[in-house]
Amino acid sequence: MAHVLGIDVSTTATKAVLVNEGGRVRGIGTAEYPADAPRPLWSEQDPEAWWQGAIAAIGSVLSSTGVAPSDIVGIGLTGQMHGLVLLDAADAVLRPAILWNDQRTAAECDEIRAAVGRERLIGLTGNDAVTGLTAPKLAWVRNHEPAIWERVRHVLLPKDFVRLRLTGEHALDKADGSGTQLFDLATRDWSPEMLDALGIDPAWLPPTHEGPAVTGTVTASAASATGLAAGTPVVAGGGDQAANGVGVGVVDPGTVALSLGTSGVIFAATDSPIVEPDGRVHAFCHAVPGRWHMMSVMLSAAGSLRWFRDALAPGMAFAELSEEAGRIAPGSDGLLFLPYLSGERSPHSDPLARGAFVGLTLGHERAHLARAVLEGVAFGLRDGLDLMVAAGMPAPTTIRASGGGTASPVWRQILADVLDAEIATVATTEGAAYGAAVLAAIGAGWMPHVAAATTAWVSTEVSASPGDAAAAYRDRHAAYRALYPALSPTFHGG
Ligand code: XUL
Repeated sequence: MAHVLGIDVSTTATKAVLVNEGGRVRGIGTAEYPADAPRPLWSEQDPEAWWQGAIAAIGSVLSSTGVAPSDIVGIGLTGQMHGLVLLDAADAVLRPAILWNDQRTAAECDEIRAAVGRERLIGLTGNDAVTGLTAPKLAWVRNHEPAIWERVRHVLLPKDFVRLRLTGEHALDKADGSGTQLFDLATRDWSPEMLDALGIDPAWLPPTHEGPAVTGTVTASAASATGLAAGTPVVAGGGDQAANGVGVGVVDPGTVALSLGTSGVIFAATDSPIVEPDGRVHAFCHAVPGRWHMMSVMLSAAGSLRWFRDALAPGMAFAELSEEAGRIAPGSDGLLFLPYLSGERSPHSDPLARGAFVGLTLGHERAHLARAVLEGVAFGLRDGLDLMVAAGMPAPTTIRASGGGTASPVWRQILADVLDAEIATVATTEGAAYGAAVLAAIGAGWMPHVAAATTAWVSTEVSASPGDAAAAYRDRHAAYRALYPALSPTFHGG
């Protein structure tokens, strides 16, 4: 039977997911690696670790499933977005990759806003300059490492380094390309204006392709390293958020996903670029041809609950903690929690924003605090959703939820009440890697377009609907929203 392979080059591991012609996951191979923080605010990784991770993950899934390499008819790539990989003329890595969660580039963000003009920058690229994106990282290398800058001949994103090793081709997809902030969002390609403003040689940048397009085939040397068959087509794929959108079936306009992992992302497919005028949520190209997406990113979502468990209930199972929170009435008896534990991106792009419990009394127990954490994350997500709706996206009636946090029925109900939408959980847990496999299946011609595959393969089940608490939560949300402006001077050392 024919199969496709999705490969996710994430920050913590490379994962290879093998999917058969019925859309079923046949096996998963994973190889982990570390990230480095050589200085405060820095986050880097050795691109070679991704390639070694890919070799190990592919080897593991081939041996655990016994699927013959010649039965794999297509490979799709996905991975952590925004990371900067710099190569010289011989494709040698010039410095460790600077990752999406690196925060060193605040000055370069200001520089980019000044060079392009903030309004023009947001209108052209869909995004304000924020430390996470690739363009400020390029400006940082130009400003701080001129000797390296002089030797740069190729710029790639993380998964596309693995593509180079697999196929010998420099290429990337439109979704990840738009996450560099060097794209003209409307034309879905590199923006001459942005490249000019930043002094970037267009020859450094690879051609860009729609997600299901074939960008090359596995070379003989990559075949001997990985066990794959030489000649296997590799499609463009997409950055992890766009590929996850495909993996949970958020492809057509009006569909919305929530990914509730360490970070919390609300992701909506659109049929034209919808840009939030202040750039407080992202607008990027989707991995689906002719589609764009909006996205709000909360940095500590389930990460807030993990922090709470580790600090105040060490060793307790998340299920038990969530059940304890479920014994408290909605509103946590007046207690509010701000989830900005590692700064925030949406709706407050502020690396110095911080977490807080506000409204504590002698009557509050651990269970109230736990519930306040679940509610605070939901309020923060609602802030992002509200910005997307205010910018022109229709308010969703159903949200497709995935990620570890959605295992909690208490949290799902809070999310349904606060987001005022049905929460539908998605059967597959392999989000981005599964989406990359879907794109490979389209590239292989199994189905005419992405929506046909996701309609057939992605099943969801409504697991919570807005209930009696929804109205009360509207008031609590208003109280929550007042906290960031009130506490911001404290966060900023005032
Ligand atoms: C998206 C983002 C993260 C990384 C994580 O904008 O920065 O989701 O892609 O892998």
